[in-house]
Amino acid sequence: MFIVIEGIDGTGKTTQAKRLAEHLTSQGKTVILSHEPTDGPWGTLLRNSASTGRLSPEQELETFLKDRRQHVTEKIAPALAAGHTVILDRYYFSTMAYQGARGFDPQEIRRKNEAFAPVPDLLLIMDLDVDTAISRIGVRGDTANEFEQRANLARCREIFLSLKDEPFAKVIPTDSDPDEVSRKILEALPA
Ligand code: TYD
Repeated sequence: MFIVIEGIDGTGKTTQAKRLAEHLTSQGKTVILSHEPTDGPWGTLLRNSASTGRLSPEQELETFLKDRRQHVTEKIAPALAAGHTVILDRYYFSTMAYQGARGFDPQEIRRKNEAFAPVPDLLLIMDLDVDTAISRIGVRGDTANEFEQRANLARCREIFLSLKDEPFAKVIPTDSDPDEVSRKILEALPA
């Protein structure tokens, strides 16, 4: 079973990914919980670039792809081959959304990724309106910055929601309390 949790910042993905991992582990499954960007060299470069200066759009997209190739080869594919349950906090749908919002064609990004990255069995799209997300992540700075952030997240949310009719996708509203969100996630799991 390969489960991916996606959504804009502020939707509580990371908490829910951990809870889901604990739940499936308590059912006796071997669960590999991982995240992107990874803690490997490319992922670290991407995280550092948030403070040292953002990469060019092309470099950024290429680096997310390099990070993912390594993640698939070294961790995701071997775990799936061993029959383990894999839960990812972000994957190539984030590249479609965030690098799509930066100007690349989301469908082209999807094709590039699906050439080497396995498609999940379940994609949980954690959904939240942008105003609530912004207040949860506490965007600071000037108004222009906040306006830019808001427009960017709105575009990312739109791209995530464009995936809602995929047979493997489920949209999970995250405006309720975390326990309610966890219940909705468990309901979305195949029997
Ligand atoms: P994340 O780890 O969710 O944030 P945090 O460090 O706060 O826990 O993701 C870091 C950022 O990377 C997030 O804003 C989304 C972005 N991102 C992309 O732009 N493209 C991608 O392919 C991925 C996986 C993440």
